[in-house]
Amino acid sequence: MNEKEKEEDAKLDPAVKAARYHGVIQERLYLIKQIVLKISDRKHFGEVCKLEKAFAKELPEHFHAEEELLFPVIELRGTPEQKALMARLRREHKELTAQARAIASIFMENIFPLAQDVVERVNRQLEDFAEAVTRHAQLEDAEMFPVFHRLREGAPRPSV
Ligand SMILES: [Fe+2]
Ligand SMILES: [Fe+2]
Repeated sequence: MNEKEKEEDAKLDPAVKAARYHGVIQERLYLIKQIVLKISDRKHFGEVCKLEKAFAKELPEHFHAEEELLFPVIELRGTPEQKALMARLRREHKELTAQARAIASIFMENIFPLAQDVVERVNRQLEDFAEAVTRHAQLEDAEMFPVFHRLREGAPRPSV
């Protein structure tokens, strides 16, 4: 991202930004799925490492933005069920971060070429992670964003 893009990005509504990033998550997972079965060759191994690195950096930023800018609105003004959903999403953020770290550490601890059992472990963990992160993003799209927009629009203006 260049400086101008960064500036534009900073001006974006955090809810729009978070929703957009869900699209990025799907793209990255799609790419990872396409190449992960071929990581026994050097080029594909390098590509999966690159995608994993991008995820490892961006995912915590995305979770942090949601927890700081979106969830508090619901935690403050939502119904008990909506607050319980926020607790679940926060818990899932911790679990997904741990899963992503575990995968990243396999790549850090093993150099190319990977042993067959490591390849199988990476594939299994990536599959679980992709499923969990997709489920999480879908739950946010279906239940968190609509509630956030409703509560934000109906929220009284802060007094000055
Ligand atoms: Fe999230
Ligand atoms: Fe999200």
